[in-house]
Amino acid sequence: MSVKTNSRGRFIVFEGLDGSGKSTQMNLLCERLQREGRKVYRTAEPTELTTGGLIRDALAGNYARTPEELSALFLSDRIAHNVNPQNGIIKLLNEGYDVVCDRYYYSSFAYQGMDSDLDWVMAMNVNCPTVTKPDVCFFIDVPSDVCKGRVDKRGAFLEIFEREEGTLSRIRKKYLEVFERLCNDNIVIIESVGSPEEVAEKVFANVPDIK
Ligand code: TYD
Repeated sequence: MSVKTNSRGRFIVFEGLDGSGKSTQMNLLCERLQREGRKVYRTAEPTELTTGGLIRDALAGNYARTPEELSALFLSDRIAHNVNPQNGIIKLLNEGYDVVCDRYYYSSFAYQGMDSDLDWVMAMNVNCPTVTKPDVCFFIDVPSDVCKGRVDKRGAFLEIFEREEGTLSRIRKKYLEVFERLCNDNIVIIESVGSPEEVAEKVFANVPDIK
């Protein structure tokens, strides 16, 4: 991978089930890119913006939302995430940052697409002019029973999608179904076997070159 300056940064998305080890892989990739002299900005959805707060209330089960309401809230949050003038994705990419994002529209396709009209959820995200298409999406693939075990072991409050192993298993199937349909997206399925460092090597080998 060559290191260039003055070019647009890369938009790198991580996806996976709750408990899949995305955060560990994101840490390892961010550290490695920084060691190579890249400017790196790590971010996540739902965001810390106002829209993200509305979403977190729903995920905690404090405020019931239909799958369509959730889809629209996630899209609003994603647009704000892209365009906000302080640290929006579009601005950072133009400044040459590699933006590494924990979840993006593939989560909407898998999680909301499971309970709503998948075509509608996909179309409104993909056709939105201010929703940037990722340069690569890494799906950290871990069996749903392993993820459920890790989520339970954390002992933290369980969000609505983390409560049943059956839900996680359905979400994993939906992700794989969605990836089959997205042949124009650069999706890399990383089977999470071996040590975190071994998995990180597979991730790093698939980071696209700077254009
Ligand atoms: P959070 O605890 O913030 O992150 P994580 O579990 O990845 O560490 O939870 C985010 C939850 O929101 C997670 O269960 C997936 C869900 N989600 C959607 O349902 N749709 C979306 O578009 C996004 C971005 C997330």
